[in-house]
Amino acid sequence: MKRLFLLSFLFLMLSAGITWSCTQDAGEQHPTLSELMRERTNQIRDIRAAIESGQQPDASLFEYDVFTNGEPSRDALKEPGVQGQLMAFDTFYARFAENPTPANYDIMIKTCISCHERLCPGPLRLIRSLSIEEMEEPGFQMF
Ligand code: HEC
Repeated sequence: MKRLFLLSFLFLMLSAGITWSCTQDAGEQHPTLSELMRERTNQIRDIRAAIESGQQPDASLFEYDVFTNGEPSRDALKEPGVQGQLMAFDTFYARFAENPTPANYDIMIKTCISCHERLCPGPLRLIRSLSIEEMEEPGFQMF
């Protein structure tokens, strides 16, 4: 009997803990940096499709959350040096958005690549595949 009581008490504690952590997650609304990068990547795919078919990309494709709002997966990415590069990229990206020609598009993709070569080589193949003209390796250093 005593053991059963203890068990149900434990169970209660556990479920209370689970509910608590779920509510916390739902209320927080803090995207990860990777999520923001993936969202942007999807928009960029649609932007490329529009450019390649000779159309002006839809304005909604240029609505995004800036990279500095994303929660990085490791502390080293919170350093001001890295955050500054993310901010500089978005300033550059805003200029691309004003004038999304095929040439400016490929320059923008090269700036994704130059950061990724140093900080996050995982998705490099994916990013290169987004270019309009085939891109030689390595990209150039800008950010
Ligand atoms: C200034 C550096 C920098 C720039 C510029 C940058 N990225 Fe990233 N990107 C990162 C870092 C660092 C991560 C990993 C984030 C983490 O681990 O929290 C990342 C993550 C990603 C991911 C997710 C990888 C995964 O495993 O989920 C994709 C996709 C991506 N970036 C694509 C892009 C594209 C496309 C561009 C250009 C539009 C771009 N990135 C520009 C640094 C950058």
